[in-house]
Amino acid sequence: MTDAIQIERERGLLTLRLNRPDKKNALTRAMYSHLAEALKQADTDPEINAVLITGSAECFTAGNDIADFLQQPPSNLDSPVFQFMLTLLECRKPVIAAVAGAAVGIGTTLLLHCDLVYVSRDARLRMPFVNLGLCPEFGSSLLLPRLLGHAKAAELLLLGEGFSGEQAAEWGIATEALGSGEAALAKAREMARRFESLPPEAVRISKQLMKAPDREQVRKVIEEEGALFTQRLRSPEAVAALSGFINRH
Ligand code: COA
Repeated sequence: MTDAIQIERERGLLTLRLNRPDKKNALTRAMYSHLAEALKQADTDPEINAVLITGSAECFTAGNDIADFLQQPPSNLDSPVFQFMLTLLECRKPVIAAVAGAAVGIGTTLLLHCDLVYVSRDARLRMPFVNLGLCPEFGSSLLLPRLLGHAKAAELLLLGEGFSGEQAAEWGIATEALGSGEAALAKAREMARRFESLPPEAVRISKQLMKAPDREQVRKVIEEEGALFTQRLRSPEAVAALSGFINRH
């Protein structure tokens, strides 16, 4: 287990905090494994009512660790990143996200699988997959066009245009945008705590009903995207772009 994921348990709320500030909370293989393990445990722990995923008041996450992408690229669905994706997809308990600062790559796409998402108005979300020679992941090629229409989703996924927390809330990617990172976290905690006083079985069944119509299709798309993504990671386009980031100074 890695210190870069801090786990706090407070009554029925489990908070998973990304804590690798020197690398803008970029996610390593060890961090994905730790997150997946904690989510699995929360899902079967009768004392846990909800899970909160957050970073710091300055940064959510810069996405997948780019050095990891070059040195130990995921090769199949058993890889930590895909295990994390599939565990979040299958999680039966409510998952709430609190987002401030940068939310790049999977830092944005994971939000599509959370139940409630609170962002700071000035959060900076971005999915620069194509810019890095990659392709969309975590079901985003299905879920974003469905949410925003093809033309808007194309701006975000094909051009890799960034957008603010305020826009994320306008477009339905986030539940609400708040004035600061601290305010987003406070609101996320307040709403997550509400699940402590709701009947857990009714919450679980209701989430299942909301997710069930799409679950198999989303899973299939995650697998299809994953197969192409792992190929792309080894492509000359991606290796050049990812090495460019590592060697930029
Ligand atoms: N993987 C590995 N290291 C990363 C990283 C990532 N995804 N994102 C940032 N870092 C590292 C930087 O290399 C730098 O490390 P160093 O101090 O050892 O040189 C440190 O984190 C700080 O990053 P920096 O770029 O200086 O911070 P910033 O505040 O100017 O910008 C970001 C923050 C998130 C906008 C910028 O770091 C960024 O664009 N990162 C890459 C995001 C990305 O493309 N992710 C992959 C998506 S698939």
